[in-house]
Amino acid sequence: MYRILLILLAITLVCSVAEANTQQTIYAICKQTIDIKFCSGILAKNQATSPIMKDFLKVTVTEAERISANTYSFISTIFLNVGSGPGLQKCVESYARVNASFTNAVSLFNEDRFAEIIGLMDEVSYGVGICKTDFNVPGYNVNPMIAKNRETNVLAAMEKIISHMVPS
Ligand SMILES: *[C@@H]1O[C@H](CO)[C@@H](O)[C@H](O)[C@H]1NC(C)=O
Repeated sequence: MYRILLILLAITLVCSVAEANTQQTIYAICKQTIDIKFCSGILAKNQATSPIMKDFLKVTVTEAERISANTYSFISTIFLNVGSGPGLQKCVESYARVNASFTNAVSLFNEDRFAEIIGLMDEVSYGVGICKTDFNVPGYNVNPMIAKNRETNVLAAMEKIISHMVPS
């Protein structure tokens, strides 16, 4: 009986140390970005209990692909509804490339080509810079792409930071 209790205690201890390490790792990554809360929310979706960098990178590339596809649909729909505007059109075109880059990042991850993800994310940051937010979007007081650009930059930064940390 005593032995079982000791074993249970040991297991609990190991689990809570792993949990604390995971939280520390998340903070260490996210404090390097401009939005700790958004970044932590993404990394918290990692179901693994130990802070393995590859698991964090996997959850990031997966979520980034999903979110950027949504963003591209969002801006495409606005473009279809509004119809024109040079700033808007550039934004749609740049997000088509941003979406493709995040999809490519998932393929690179699956092939363990982590260093190449870093270069790809530089292209993403450049693409986000092309999406100026100086056009009006009907129904919004503030251009919604301001927040989307910010999110996209955080996702790109996360992929870069974590790719650097994955042992190759
Ligand atoms: C995003 O890019 C991928 C790969 O090019 C493509 O399959 C997907 O349809 C794109 N998403 C949207 C919303 O167009």
